[in-house]
Amino acid sequence: MRKGFLVSFEGGEGCGKSTQIKKFSKWLEEKNLDYVLLREPGGTELGEKIRNILLHDKDELSSKTEFLLFSASRSKLVSDVVKPNLEIPGRIVVMDRYYDSSFAYQGYAGTLKLDDIETITKFSIGEGAEPDLTFLLDLSYDTGMSRKSKDESLKDFDRIEQKGKSYHDRVRAGYLDLAKKHKDRFCVVDASKSVDEVFSQIVSEFERRYDLKMAKSGKKSK
Ligand code: TYD
Repeated sequence: MRKGFLVSFEGGEGCGKSTQIKKFSKWLEEKNLDYVLLREPGGTELGEKIRNILLHDKDELSSKTEFLLFSASRSKLVSDVVKPNLEIPGRIVVMDRYYDSSFAYQGYAGTLKLDDIETITKFSIGEGAEPDLTFLLDLSYDTGMSRKSKDESLKDFDRIEQKGKSYHDRVRAGYLDLAKKHKDRFCVVDASKSVDEVFSQIVSEFERRYDLKMAKSGKKSK
């Protein structure tokens, strides 16, 4: 049995994921818990190069090309960083997006079959790298975009952010469907609530699941 704990954060544009991950990392530090924070796409030198292509390349990319690039980045990140970290007792691996993003964006919202995404994802990451817990910060596209456009002008949006409302509506519906399919793993949080309300829900669910897992593996949390 692997000894660490993998928690991933997912959600659509403007859902407040970055703010929550920042607060969560600070909280882990204050609790003196041992963690590593990774982002997808990215997280390795190769992954950051792929991220640049995915978000800023001028060419139109098909869902298939996008997904294969995400998968190449993911495969490297999982073998070089995620799995070795999960071998460390009590280590918490925090992922800012993971393979659920591919199901939501390239599958439900894009053109790929979910079965194909599943097959290639299994091939890319192998066994033993599934999240123990996934937070889905659920928010409507309109609310997310109105939050985002307060901070950035539309011309600064990256390639994926620029896809329209119907694409992002399908991302949201896709995530909710994934949460239904994987009830044990997902925790859906209403991201229209205040930052503090969302955060306190995240922390209490995390503590419950982490303590449970560490108790099972014989390592008590601090
Ligand atoms: P990022 O700047 O990290 O955005 P966010 O703050 O929303 O996480 O950009 C990542 C973008 O890549 C985001 O629009 C979601 C998209 N994405 C996919 O389409 N498929 C994937 O598998 C992953 C990991 C991300």
